[in-house]
Amino acid sequence: DTIVAIIVAAGKGERIGGADPKQFIDLGGCPLVEHSRMALAAHSRIDRVVVVVAPDQADRIPDARPIGGATRRESVRNALEELADSGVSTVLIHDAARPFVPPAVIDRLLDALDAQPGAVPVLPITDTLARGDSVLTEGVSRDHVFRLQTPQAFRFDAILDAHRRWPATEDATDDAGMAQRTGHDVMMVEGSPILDKITYPADLALAEARIAQAME
Ligand code: C5P
Repeated sequence: DTIVAIIVAAGKGERIGGADPKQFIDLGGCPLVEHSRMALAAHSRIDRVVVVVAPDQADRIPDARPIGGATRRESVRNALEELADSGVSTVLIHDAARPFVPPAVIDRLLDALDAQPGAVPVLPITDTLARGDSVLTEGVSRDHVFRLQTPQAFRFDAILDAHRRWPATEDATDDAGMAQRTGHDVMMVEGSPILDKITYPADLALAEARIAQAME
């Protein structure tokens, strides 16, 4: 049973203030992506971590694979194709923009794969939801609605199949949705608030505070 974690860190456009793509922003003395890389590599059940960066960013992160694509989906696909036929049984696919990965979430995900080909960490929605277009048009029930996080775990053959069969013209924001849409059941497991994506400058400040507190 070989378990590989893929971290996609090939985004270009997204910047939160600085001149650098988000995944390279300094957090507690190292690039953002290094935090999730260390967390995943430290987990006893994970054999290898592959960090995917854009081809022109190869020298930014030691040992990174410069095989990023134009979209997140392409970056993941390139990594999966590179791993195909190498005996990998299980993959965890993770966003570089989520630096803190609790080991317990990884365990829940991997355990869920005994029952289903995919697993995703989720949290309930606490805010009120509504649809609208400058004015509210209708309320949206929170029943059976969840926020999806990463890492997302899959039996390798299932997620490779999902990516190979996915229509080239259709975008996808995550792998769990692609697996589900191509007929591979995805189990929901409990996520964690500290897995939330760094999106705004305030998220980075919170992450800095968390690291400073952990070192006290
Ligand atoms: O833009 P967003 O925050 O949804 O990106 C999620 C993750 O996908 C980020 O870690 C980003 O670096 C990665 N990504 C990628 N290749 C792209 C676009 C995004 O690896 N072409």
